[in-house]
Amino acid sequence: MYLRRGRAGRSGACPALYLLFMAALEKTFYLETFGCQMNAHDSEKVVGTLISQGYRQVPTVEEAGLVLYNTCSIRDKAEQKVFHRLADYKKLEAQGKKFGVLGCVAQQEGAKIFERAPYVSLVCGSASYRKLPEMLTQIEKAGAGKRLRITGLDDRETDECFETEFTARTNPHRGYITIIEGCDKFCSYCVVPFTRGKERSRTSESVLVEARQMADLGYTEIQLLGQNVNSYCDPQGKRTFAELLAAVGAVPGIRRVRFTTSHPRDFGKDIVEAIDVTPTLCDHVHLPVQSGSSRVLDAMQRLYNREQYLEKISWIKSARRDISMTTDVIVGFPGESQEDFEETLSLLDEVGYDGVFAFKYSPRPNTPAIRLEDAIPDAEKSRRLAVLLETQRAIQQRRNLKHLGEIVEVMVEGKNEARRQWIGRTSQNKTLNFTAPDSTGVETGGYVHVGVTTAFPNSLVGEMVI
Ligand code: 5AD
Ligand code: SF4
Repeated sequence: MYLRRGRAGRSGACPALYLLFMAALEKTFYLETFGCQMNAHDSEKVVGTLISQGYRQVPTVEEAGLVLYNTCSIRDKAEQKVFHRLADYKKLEAQGKKFGVLGCVAQQEGAKIFERAPYVSLVCGSASYRKLPEMLTQIEKAGAGKRLRITGLDDRETDECFETEFTARTNPHRGYITIIEGCDKFCSYCVVPFTRGKERSRTSESVLVEARQMADLGYTEIQLLGQNVNSYCDPQGKRTFAELLAAVGAVPGIRRVRFTTSHPRDFGKDIVEAIDVTPTLCDHVHLPVQSGSSRVLDAMQRLYNREQYLEKISWIKSARRDISMTTDVIVGFPGESQEDFEETLSLLDEVGYDGVFAFKYSPRPNTPAIRLEDAIPDAEKSRRLAVLLETQRAIQQRRNLKHLGEIVEVMVEGKNEARRQWIGRTSQNKTLNFTAPDSTGVETGGYVHVGVTTAFPNSLVGEMVI
């Protein structure tokens, strides 16, 4: 290639023109990801696939020939973001850029995306990623303005997982491994079963091969991913989920194993037992409850009631290890009364969560809950959300104060130069910012011991102990 950045700069060429020229010569792409860890990990695979096809990832839309958005449709706000983004960059289509929408919005909206954003040339739902190389070839052949429409909308029935040898891992220390895709639970508010298709598990053997490869690459922490990891079902019947956890935890070089997300209905005691006897399994369980009211749980089709959920929590609390607990909550589900809401508040207190992700109910297309009456006004949802977050803040402060004086191991995730503090993460998944007398022995990705000196609701502060 004869054109270089320096030369264009020296000749005084307009940088925008230069970028345009470069984008035309090379296969470049820009990818922005919205949503959950599953999406973030899918993006790692998409990036790897594109690089294997000769593309180069660039940090800005302006530099890219192909602009991709990996989208999320779990709540309306998440869905709107992609359309705002597309509107922002619409004018760039004239420069020959191609736009693609991937992920859950693509799966859900399909061809409607072309109506709303006609400058989009590729729509690829999350169930169709394995067709990506083929689609890329088509898109390259297609002239400017030619649109492809591939959504894999029939793929709820697919038996395949998006397995690829080309995963461009973006987190240098924590490696994600998908163990199960899709969801068969059909909670009444949730789009996931429609956007991500039916449940399909990978063999535990292939998961272990990937875990060993990651250990060889120097990763020490692995996070197993799935919409509902507890319904993991090894197609070869070799391991249960708890056994898979223990096996990943036994891979030489792996020091921490996490997993998300659990569904309370399928959460078994064997998981707590595995954590108890496998030191590498982290002291943390994320167990989304959604509501503390059995009446609302029934309307949500969650398949458990408050008492059954609390029984699972009692297993976690009676573990030999001190396991932190986090959850997801939806406020303002149709028909949620003030009494129902108060039951959620009392559940937060009874469990004593270390963290809560709380959301206002958002009606989603295709879901049964969209037909329910008694919608809660948005202002009331906001009020409940604020009350809930305030209640939880006090609970977290109380929980975190218990760590004062403890010495805990953290994985070093980075440094806050302004505060001259290192950023650490505990096995319980808490942020523990710390100072080190001199930084000898501290490096990102390494493990050190820290004495906890201060507790805030959302983080801990401490000093490294040598
Ligand atoms: N409205 C609000 N929150 C939702 N979630 C899923 N669907 C909806 C919805 N329609 C939340 C749940 C889930 C988390 C990932 O997102 O709490 O656990
Ligand atoms: Fe959605 Fe329920 Fe499946 Fe979770 S378990 S992905 S909330 S349908």
